[in-house]
Amino acid sequence: MSKKIPLGPFQIDHPFILAPMAGITNSPFRRLMRRMNSSLVVSELVSATGIEYMGQKTLDLLKFHDEERIIGLQIFGEDEEHLVKACRYVEKLGADFVDLNLGCPVPKVVKKGAGSAMCRDPINLGKILTAMVKSVKIPVTIKIRTGWDEGSRNALDVVRAAHDAGVAWVAIHGRTRAQGYSGEADWEFIADIKAKSPLPIIGNGDLNTAETAVKRFRESGVDAVLIGRGALRNPFIFDQAARLWRGESFGKPMAQEYLDLLATQQKLLAETYPERSAMIHARKFLAWYSAGFPGCHEFRKKVFTIDNGDTLWLEAKEFFEKAVHLRDDRFLQESFLMGGHG
Ligand SMILES: Cc1cc2nc3c(=O)[nH]c(=O)nc-3n(C[C@H](O)[C@H](O)[C@H](O)COP(=O)(O)O)c2cc1C
Repeated sequence: MSKKIPLGPFQIDHPFILAPMAGITNSPFRRLMRRMNSSLVVSELVSATGIEYMGQKTLDLLKFHDEERIIGLQIFGEDEEHLVKACRYVEKLGADFVDLNLGCPVPKVVKKGAGSAMCRDPINLGKILTAMVKSVKIPVTIKIRTGWDEGSRNALDVVRAAHDAGVAWVAIHGRTRAQGYSGEADWEFIADIKAKSPLPIIGNGDLNTAETAVKRFRESGVDAVLIGRGALRNPFIFDQAARLWRGESFGKPMAQEYLDLLATQQKLLAETYPERSAMIHARKFLAWYSAGFPGCHEFRKKVFTIDNGDTLWLEAKEFFEKAVHLRDDRFLQESFLMGGHG
């Protein structure tokens, strides 16, 4: 058993963590990624105001399975009272930590003053964070961007406000709100924040291969890294990065590894969702996993026209069985899914 590393109050197996992604990091995918060796998981963003009104859809988003631990539930909102109540609710559900989304660039969210807009006023943010931290015993963490725009990259002020409030760590996506998903994540900026930060820092952005993840982790000095889109094209990335980080080697995943992955995901989706929605969820993952494989365009088209779950998984197994050994990994460097909530 190799040595664990500290992250806030937790001990994690290694520093490579699945990033929260709306519509993607739901309970069955988080379970899958824990099995695929992400060292902890976080839910997608859930509205604190939605929690206040107890809508069924909102409550469904907060469900998790014990095997996900260490599991954080991510909330967003601008109303202090709703955020405090949401923290208490997350604690009552038994989650290991509550994460506040302060990186979402989506107009609908920032217009109300939530997501990345909240970081524009670190003093007010500090007040809200203090109330949140005081309201629960579980750790409160935050996920931010570098700043609102190029002229106001105030992440360090936010980190200091978070520290004063008693937040356990800060994850930073290395782009401004204005950048959205364009350009590249600024890892020099992340390294600079880490060097000056009194809190553990988790770096994030554009880690699409195990090699890049380990290199950025080492060079920036951060406490851990989040990997989002890279895991959708390479669900083996956490295990690969952990091995590389420990000085071990890893081979390219072969057909059997893909077949095992698909069988597990099929089972987890079937356990969680009714047949039809399990199939709808499956389609997008199959399309992402197959990107860059020979025949992926035809396979993708097929995936979105097949209307029967069993047929879909059967087609997928046949596809990966044939295509895996012909794969060319250069496509992993291409831009991909240029939009999201953080
Ligand atoms: C489709 C999508 C949905 C996302 N949803 C969330 C979210 O709910 N909460 C959050 O904090 N970040 C969200 N993000 C941002 C990611 O967590 C991450 O910060 C971003 O994708 C950069 O990391 P990457 O280059 O490894 O993907 C989302 C990103 C994408 C692509």
